[in-house]
Amino acid sequence: MQHFLPNGQILELRQAVLDDAPVLLSYFRQLMSETDFLLYTREEAASWTVEEEREFIHSFSKDANDLLLLAFAGHQPIGTLSIRQNTFSKEAHIGNLGIGVLHSYWNMGIGRRMMTAATRWAEQHPQLEIIQLGVLANNERAIQLYRNFGYMEYGRMQKGIRQPDGSYVDNILMSKRVKP
Ligand SMILES: CC(C)(COP(=O)(O)OP(=O)(O)OC[C@H]1O[C@@H](n2cnc3c(N)ncnc32)[C@H](O)[C@@H]1OP(=O)(O)O)[C@@H](O)C(=O)NCCC(=O)NCCS
Repeated sequence: MQHFLPNGQILELRQAVLDDAPVLLSYFRQLMSETDFLLYTREEAASWTVEEEREFIHSFSKDANDLLLLAFAGHQPIGTLSIRQNTFSKEAHIGNLGIGVLHSYWNMGIGRRMMTAATRWAEQHPQLEIIQLGVLANNERAIQLYRNFGYMEYGRMQKGIRQPDGSYVDNILMSKRVKP
């Protein structure tokens, strides 16, 4: 699916394939170095290898139940959205969502476009009924994005996140039904 960005670049959304591993690894390293809102640290991301990245992509692409969506500007990945189905059968109707966009591409509607595509994917998924996520309480942009898509807060773990500098942030838990 193709869209135009405000800067004139073409934005393409598609699912990841194994050959994306090298560019996706560079993307993740940059992403983790730009934000503290994600669960991985920049040091952890710096230690990943291309082979591990291929295995990561394979873990999504080996069956149709999980989604690893990439947003490209040209040949460069600039955004990712993942949904993983829970592995316990009693929770197999729940998927866990994660999203990231490179800093220089924030506020161009890329998050919104990926969320729209992922919502359509989840609505057509044979088992998923609920999508859930955790978001740092100080991540106002992400919380706004999720609210725009009908996600509601269902819990808040106080001090649920401990940053590398030792500071704590509450973790807000949000969910949305994708089936009636
Ligand atoms: C959260 C993130 C994915 C959003 O991506 P994006 O492409 O910038 O999102 P969009 O441009 O589609 O939408 C952002 C929304 O936040 C709003 N927004 C921007 N700055 C904001 C702020 N300071 N406070 C509240 N809302 C804000 C925008 O107005 C927009 O909402 P609107 O469509 O109603 O106007 C991106 O900022 C990111 O990758 N952040 C770092 C990683 C991260 O936090 N991931 C989520 C972890 S839970």
